[in-house]
Amino acid sequence: MGSRKKRVGELRDYEASTRKSKRIYDSAKDLLPRGVESNFRIVDPYPFYISRGEGSRIWDVDGNEYLDFLMSQGVLLLGHNNPVIKKAIAEQIEKGMTFALPTEIVAKAARLVNEMMPSMQMMRFANSGTEATMHAIRVARGFTGKDKIAKSEGGYHGVHDQVLWSFWGPEEQLGDRSEPKACIFSKGIPKAYSDLLVPIIYNDLEGTERILRKNADSLAALIIEPVLGSAGCLLPRNNYLNEVAKICKENDILLILDEVVTGFRLGPGGAQKMFGIKPDMTCLGKALGGGMPVAAFGGRREIMETLIPNQETWPMSVFHGGTYNAHPAGMAATIAALKIYKQGRFYPKMNRLADELFNGLGDITTDMGMKSQVRHIGSMGFVYFNDKEVKDVRDTQTADWQFVFNWAFEGVKRGVLFGHPKGEKLFLSAAHSKEDIDLALEVAKDCFKSLTK
Ligand SMILES: Cc1ncc(COP(=O)(O)O)c(C=O)c1O
Repeated sequence: MGSRKKRVGELRDYEASTRKSKRIYDSAKDLLPRGVESNFRIVDPYPFYISRGEGSRIWDVDGNEYLDFLMSQGVLLLGHNNPVIKKAIAEQIEKGMTFALPTEIVAKAARLVNEMMPSMQMMRFANSGTEATMHAIRVARGFTGKDKIAKSEGGYHGVHDQVLWSFWGPEEQLGDRSEPKACIFSKGIPKAYSDLLVPIIYNDLEGTERILRKNADSLAALIIEPVLGSAGCLLPRNNYLNEVAKICKENDILLILDEVVTGFRLGPGGAQKMFGIKPDMTCLGKALGGGMPVAAFGGRREIMETLIPNQETWPMSVFHGGTYNAHPAGMAATIAALKIYKQGRFYPKMNRLADELFNGLGDITTDMGMKSQVRHIGSMGFVYFNDKEVKDVRDTQTADWQFVFNWAFEGVKRGVLFGHPKGEKLFLSAAHSKEDIDLALEVAKDCFKSLTK
């Protein structure tokens, strides 16, 4: 590649422009499988390693700039390197790093969460969405005395053994849509867990109702993403969530709303406020910590009180622990972020820009005669490339995901991250500008042109 630095939008040769990343990869791959810390970060032929971020942009170690619509997989609602959050963290770590003892600021963070999401009457903090869903499920089982968990196909709730099922898989292993089967997603998970898992199909209300009723006696909870973000961006149809909440209530099945992605992103009250549902429990993560690894689970007081030891029974309670829970630096960032979310001033502009981006992507693909369906809500969205209408999660499997992956990588070569470099939903932040959206649309058009040539 020539020595001139390319601007965002100009086509780069991946290998020529990421030589330092390649050197890092060559030395890292002996130590880290495929040179990365998460299977989601594997990129072919090798990943580009990031050195810094600012606002809506990030830079890799070779100095390439990227306009970012991944935003740390939805974490950075306020953009990269937000000064208010940085200051809060800096002030807190002056006082010591961590104590594994309670600090005053934890209750302040909890109060803010409760004010924005009143269904979180009591909560506990954790360090990742995975931990939040794992603990929420344990609490639900402890409270109800039942062992099974229902989850939607295509729903992602982190990497623990109980939920890494029916996330994605071959049709024959997912089973007939009228009787979906628990489909394992990872080697190393004991098959016995499948006995405790009841898959349902998001947006198939009739099927969901039948399956939940049939298993009601053994189902502790249904855990569900309000917007099925892990299968693109599937929105609830025909009052699906409200109806499902009713069915759960009638059958003594707790409703655990996984708002790890939607919490605060869809507004200070999350998806539950937007759709008018009152979950029994909620899981939060991502935006909650303003960039720090903070998550939470909580809900109805009587359910969360099963965490309080009872001297007369053994085991004495549902157990929850963790050395780093409510890490002071994370709590300081959480409070700073939550105060900004609560004021809510940035949402209208961010959501307007999101409308422009997603509607623009729809217009471009239509003009180019491509079969696509753009789905978005607030500042998150996805483009399904297929001619069949995407209504429920089974339909998302028929989309052309390879095209999404190819688009994402074409974007990387032009300095725009249309979601994950391997293809995922797109996220905006408070730091994105009108110029960013115009540029992204121009680049998207260029990518589609070269892919459909
Ligand atoms: C809806 C949802 N729940 C839970 C998780 C797990 O969160 P974490 O990656 O912090 O463990 C994710 C992660 O993407 C998610 O999207």
